Amino acid sequence: MAPVAAVVGALSRPAPSASRPSTSSRRAQQIRCVATGPARSAAAHQAAAPAPSAPAPSVAATRRVPRSIEEVDNGAILGFAAELSEDHPGFYDAAYKQRRVDICNLARGHRIGEPIPRIEYLPEEVTTWGLVLGQLEALFPQHACKEFLHSLSLFDFRQDEVPQLEDLSRVLQRHTGFRIRPVAGLLHPRDFLNGLAFRTFHSTQYMRHASKPNYTPEPDVVHELIGHVPMLADPAFADLVHAIGVASLGADEQQLKHLVKLYWYTVEFGVVLEGGQPKAFGAGILSSYGELQHMAAGQAELLPLDVFSPLPRISYKDGYQPRYFVLQSFEEGAAQLKAYCRSMVHNIPDDVRAAVQLPLP
Ligand SMILES: [Fe+2]
Repeated sequence: MAPVAAVVGALSRPAPSASRPSTSSRRAQQIRCVATGPARSAAAHQAAAPAPSAPAPSVAATRRVPRSIEEVDNGAILGFAAELSEDHPGFYDAAYKQRRVDICNLARGHRIGEPIPRIEYLPEEVTTWGLVLGQLEALFPQHACKEFLHSLSLFDFRQDEVPQLEDLSRVLQRHTGFRIRPVAGLLHPRDFLNGLAFRTFHSTQYMRHASKPNYTPEPDVVHELIGHVPMLADPAFADLVHAIGVASLGADEQQLKHLVKLYWYTVEFGVVLEGGQPKAFGAGILSSYGELQHMAAGQAELLPLDVFSPLPRISYKDGYQPRYFVLQSFEEGAAQLKAYCRSMVHNIPDDVRAAVQLPLP
């Protein structure tokens, strides 16, 4: 069986980082000893932060910052969409590619405020969904974080039915105010992160190819619904995600690259300690049978997350993650991210701050 890809949503391939974190490996036991005091102040971290500390041109002066989710473009698709690369499992399947075109066109035609179009999933698509869900459900009790397990119960996922985005979005809105907006593929990272500032998660609706149910080189509805949606129903995690989104509104290009990495190492591949044991909360782990087993086997490095320190280059085509960054709690992670966010809020216009409920200075 092909290795299960670590699927990531809405992330482009950032330029390789010139700086890397400490090369010293720290296991979970050591992480428990790492100082977990209050996040260092943004000012104290300016020198260490990958973002330039020198005064930069106002972001608002160089591009328009969206004032609402309606102003966030969901049409800048970076890759995949209907034009699959030759190594995609569906590349030689004309019917599969047409199916994706049809579903992607529904996403392109969706307008904020309208119900998300419902998809009548084909029998083979339901089979793929059920197979992956069944495999993962066997691992979740032991290796998923408690917040995920609690939120998963809110959605009543069944193996014989692919959930509809509209129904899940309504549940999310009740619990954390997040909503789902359909998207036609891998969205430009600035647009994707900007959407999070308005508590909106852009989600694909198409299914991975049936020939490889445990592999997809791109975000698909299995990854979005199993990996992302339950965690977005947890209030503390939702605040963490929202903080990354708010920061993106004021980020220049260098800062955005760092935010993409922060998103990757938390929302996609983060783990959190429970009783000294690492538990998965990242969607790239929770939606991948192989990645979840890899994390549970303890073969990867576990490192403490410092949002102000340079982060390793992202790689998603080299197999499973060689390292995971560990949070002590989502509250602690959100506090760190909010501290980082404060280093760039001066770039966010006052009316936008009000729109995303960011306290004025
Ligand atoms: Fe994702």
